[in-house]
Amino acid sequence: MITVDDVKKSYQEESQVKRYSDAVCTIGLWKSELLLFTQYFDKQHKILDIGCGAGRTTIGLAKKGYSMIEGLDLSNNLIRAAKQIALEEGLNIRFTCGNAIDLPFNNNEFDGVFFSFNGLMQIPDKRNRLKVMREINRVIKPSAYFVFTTHSGREETGLFLEFWDDYGKKWNTRQQDKRAIDYGDRFFQVDGIEMFIHIPTKDEVEQIIKDSKFRVVQSKLRSEICEEREDILDYSVDCIFWIVQKL
Ligand SMILES: C[S@@+](CC[C@H](N)C(=O)[O-])C[C@H]1O[C@@H](n2cnc3c(N)ncnc32)[C@H](O)[C@@H]1O
Repeated sequence: MITVDDVKKSYQEESQVKRYSDAVCTIGLWKSELLLFTQYFDKQHKILDIGCGAGRTTIGLAKKGYSMIEGLDLSNNLIRAAKQIALEEGLNIRFTCGNAIDLPFNNNEFDGVFFSFNGLMQIPDKRNRLKVMREINRVIKPSAYFVFTTHSGREETGLFLEFWDDYGKKWNTRQQDKRAIDYGDRFFQVDGIEMFIHIPTKDEVEQIIKDSKFRVVQSKLRSEICEEREDILDYSVDCIFWIVQKL
């Protein structure tokens, strides 16, 4: 069965550290991220970027004037890279190595939290994903916003119908990848490294939002929010942005 430790190992790999470090400069903030973050977070807000990687969004927002932003990631190699890039950019940002399942922060500490580029869905086991949502609810202030994305590949775009047809047949005949825990778990390779993602249905996401005492403010495909640059479209397939508010 896939574990959080397996995910951590995949993000410790040199090729992943290089990929995410390069993205800080070459990709930077997506237009959609900038639009939504500036809509829901003030520059004076204390903001937490969970699954910050090498700091693509943390550094991107710090450069836009978000002086109270900080990042957390499971991979200490990515955190080391983020600290180095911030130092080179002359930015004073706190980066912490930690697991979103057990956040090293106080109750109601943040005015806003985000978990970008589908990172929440790289946490194996739906019970762990719910724990993470509850942890985020604990560290965020009442009425504050949490922004995250999920892969759009289940029913939303209809692009992967054949894939899910085949996936369902394998699952029903118990021929699915033996590492999978939940229906929608997917294993794929990036630069020869085995990666994991859970691709949820919208109903499933709505359920964990409800069970962790948030309410949905908005959920929209990235492609409905704005048009992204060509290199960003090559780097990342369409996703769903979820804006949720602590009840
Ligand atoms: C797809 S990468 C995105 C990195 C960065 N946000 C970006 O957009 O460049 C997902 C990130 O989530 C982190 N991650 C996965 N599970 C995590 C967990 N349980 N706690 C903290 N970070 C986690 C990974 O280490 C990885 O850096």
